[in-house]
Amino acid sequence: MSMIGEALTLPNGVTLKNRIVKSAMSEALGDQNNNPTQAQIDLFANWSAGGAGLLITGNTPVDRMHLEHAGNFVLDPATDREKVSALVAAGQSGGAKILAQLAHAGRQAPEAVNPRPVSISDIRLDLPGYGKPDAATEEQLADVIAKFTQSAQCAEAAGFDGVEIHAAHGYLLSSALSPRINTRDDRWGGPLENRARLALDVVRSVRAAVSPGFIVAVKLNSSDFQKGGFGPEESVKVAVMLEAEGVDFIEISGGTFEAPTAYQHSAKSQSTVAREAYFLDYAAAIKAALTIPLMVTGGFRSASVMNAAISAGKTDLIGMGRPFIADPRFAAKLLSGEIDKAPAVEQDFPPADTLPRGAVLNWFCTQLALVGETGKPDLSLPVLEGHEAYLNRIDVATERLLAARS
Ligand SMILES: Cc1cc2nc3c(=O)[nH]c(=O)nc-3n(C[C@H](O)[C@H](O)[C@H](O)COP(=O)(O)O)c2cc1C
Repeated sequence: MSMIGEALTLPNGVTLKNRIVKSAMSEALGDQNNNPTQAQIDLFANWSAGGAGLLITGNTPVDRMHLEHAGNFVLDPATDREKVSALVAAGQSGGAKILAQLAHAGRQAPEAVNPRPVSISDIRLDLPGYGKPDAATEEQLADVIAKFTQSAQCAEAAGFDGVEIHAAHGYLLSSALSPRINTRDDRWGGPLENRARLALDVVRSVRAAVSPGFIVAVKLNSSDFQKGGFGPEESVKVAVMLEAEGVDFIEISGGTFEAPTAYQHSAKSQSTVAREAYFLDYAAAIKAALTIPLMVTGGFRSASVMNAAISAGKTDLIGMGRPFIADPRFAAKLLSGEIDKAPAVEQDFPPADTLPRGAVLNWFCTQLALVGETGKPDLSLPVLEGHEAYLNRIDVATERLLAARS
């Protein structure tokens, strides 16, 4: 039975036409002033025509000094509202709803963008290219909450159907949840209630500032997959706290920059179950504790696995990322039965530990830019060429950003 084709009405009354969601993927196609470009607008029109029920933008920073990439588009009062509204209209043109993924990179802001980022503590990211952060003061944390709220209001004014607050993958809100990174001994650190305070205060402030019909979702890690990090038992508890704040759905992912489990890929030789839906078992415990819908992202490819996950009550929405790059219009084909599996090109690559760090992810980033600029990817591009091309793109975007800033 096709569960993925069924509509879903969220707690705030908004109905998604089906269960397939394009999860956030940093487009890095913004201009030097962090406004969306035509390539980015075209990308969302392409995805919307492709049939998914919901599209979530890539990392959309709430603070210009805390980008995840120099080419992010930012939502603040200085943003070009017309360009953002054009992106939103493109995203809605095929009948999808569209959310802006609001994020503060914290210590994961690249050093070239911010050599001294604000984080929850002064613990530096254990990777080259990231500056030593300062532990946020009370005033800076109040500013973070105000900036998320301001961005949500900008998103609503531009016509977005809602926002997804990024509290996963090691960015600021995620690092605040982690006992490994959050070493504070004030009201923002220590017991889980304190570590969750920043995410909860952000959600409460955003929910109060937008209309009831505006979707407020949260992306949360099932686990950081790091020793001493945020883990599955605490994730269930935080999900319950988020539900109490009026969140419309929670998306489950996992990992951080240091432990990049969100984008894992395994060889074709592994069983379908091992390859697909790697956060689903963690998510099942979260789903059992919630009444609001859950979205699980990471590895889903076969319609049969997706339908079984929904039928078994383990998730309500199926998030996917990389298939939307390999074929921006695969969703309609999967929904109609024309194909029974989303593209899984990552399975053709050698294991990640035999390649330079981030090579496969960077190859996908290059393909994403190509889809925006030309309408389709070039899947024949060798992995290392795609990797290098992305590193060059980052350099160019960073130079442009720094020149525009000065
Ligand atoms: C190129 C690329 C960029 C990504 N950027 C983001 C992002 O900005 N925010 C986010 O929450 N996840 C991001 N992700 C993670 C995806 O949303 C998703 O969790 C991950 O790709 C696993 O899903 P998949 O197996 O269907 O690709 C990104 C993934 C890729 C491949």
